[in-house]
Amino acid sequence: MTYALEMQNISKRFPGVVALDRVTLQVGRGEIHSVVGENGAGKSTLMKILSGAYRKDEGTILLDGLPIEITSPQSAIDAGIGTVYQNLNLIPDLTVADNIFMNRFAVRCGVAIDRKATRLGTEDVLGLMGCDISPSAIVADLSVADQQMVAIARVLVGDIRVLILDEPTSSLSPQEAERLFVNMRSLAARGVSIIFISHHMEEIFNVAERVTVLRDGGLVGSWGIGELDEASLVHHMVGREVREMFPKAHVEIGEEILRVSHISVTGWVDDVSFSLRRGEILGIGGLVGAGRTELVKAIFGAIAGRSGEIFLDGEKVAIDSPEDAVRQGLAFIPENRRDEGLLSDFSVEDNIVICNLQKFTRGIFVDRKSCQTVSDRVIREMAIKTPSRQQIAKNLSGGNQQKLVLGKWFLRNPRVIIFDEPTRGIDVGAKAEIHRTIGELAKNGVGVIVVSSELPELMGISDRILTLSKGKLKGEFDRRDFTAERIMLAATA
Ligand SMILES: Nc1ncnc2c1ncn2[C@@H]1O[C@H](COP(=O)(O)OP(=O)(O)OP(=O)(O)O)[C@@H](O)[C@H]1O
Ligand SMILES: [Mg+2]
Repeated sequence: MTYALEMQNISKRFPGVVALDRVTLQVGRGEIHSVVGENGAGKSTLMKILSGAYRKDEGTILLDGLPIEITSPQSAIDAGIGTVYQNLNLIPDLTVADNIFMNRFAVRCGVAIDRKATRLGTEDVLGLMGCDISPSAIVADLSVADQQMVAIARVLVGDIRVLILDEPTSSLSPQEAERLFVNMRSLAARGVSIIFISHHMEEIFNVAERVTVLRDGGLVGSWGIGELDEASLVHHMVGREVREMFPKAHVEIGEEILRVSHISVTGWVDDVSFSLRRGEILGIGGLVGAGRTELVKAIFGAIAGRSGEIFLDGEKVAIDSPEDAVRQGLAFIPENRRDEGLLSDFSVEDNIVICNLQKFTRGIFVDRKSCQTVSDRVIREMAIKTPSRQQIAKNLSGGNQQKLVLGKWFLRNPRVIIFDEPTRGIDVGAKAEIHRTIGELAKNGVGVIVVSSELPELMGISDRILTLSKGKLKGEFDRRDFTAERIMLAATA
């Protein structure tokens, strides 16, 4: 049988890392094929080779049975291979239409850009995807979910045979993800082969027809989805038993540590008040776009146009910028971690140290030895997969970058720590670790706020859950009253 796409015995080495070791991937025409594996298993690297972002060291790539050499991103696009990367690679200051037609501009270099055609083309492709986004909107002003849709739309304007989606659903709501799956199925029905990368088991079982599993850069195997269940797939990925949720430890909940009163953010958050106690884990649920991120950013001083008051340990504090917030002992781990949480051209160690500099300085000198010890500890405790603490942060796999951002904040001993989607992009094996670490923080008396779109996660780790809907507080649930139905109902109120 001829496959639409066949990658044979692909190997790729980076300094100190064998990212891929003779991996084979075979995808039929019109097939939706999932590539799965833990953080750092080699999924994105394999896709980057296919999309021309990286050159393979060894191996062969066949399209419809014919060998091709992919030497650059443009040569992949020319061959009909479209890619939506894990980090979206959009240009934030440009409009939606300009981003979607960016690749086309390269081809028509020198020719005046036809504004009208790009606007109409943009409307077409977004309409096809069922998206209600204005072509003239600036990408930076869009939600992460809409940005993701734009990144996908950009690929679809081309004539594609193979579509690569590297964690496309990581910032979509379940409804938006379902809409994407509908699009994927209709593209597949038109003969496009789709490679779909996701850490969400239910999505893989929902949409994929075949699955290829990677572990530590090696191929574990390929299966039809009907040959697997969740437990066997996870077992193939991890090679050991995993617990998806760390059992919630009992923590004595103390005095009130944070109170927010009548917080509003124009257009996003409408008069929200609540309090948080020492050792408490407060979950914030709701749909994408409900204003959860805006609410926590407002508390952290990271959004303009906030009104309302914030009290820490009973005392009113002025938090008008993230610097103010940090000074007051607040920490915030944003959902958009790669952009907002990481110095991607600096080493793992520098990232850990810079955020905690006062800990490591003696007078004007930085104490290198303790920097190294602490960095190694963070790498070990967060199980960050890296050849050394000297590795440049952007060379880590997506999930490992997430772990690094989480890890550097854990050192700070904040009074209140806010997580926005803490386990997005984190593999099934590492998730329980993150939950355990969040539990540890609470045990040390920190007040914890967790925003999450994953209801099981929220219900698993929280003492109390607040739900937002259209910017308003619509529900409050104590742990003993948690049921998925009630919380969902309040979220859609
Ligand atoms: N440019 C690079 N330089 C050095 N090492 C790299 C580079 N790109 C990837 N790696 C390493 O290759 C390995 C595989 O990374 P890859 O990004 O393919 O993982 P992944 O399976 O996509 O993981 P995730 O689920 O976290 O996205 C990792 O150990 C990573 O650190
Ligand atoms: Mg990846």
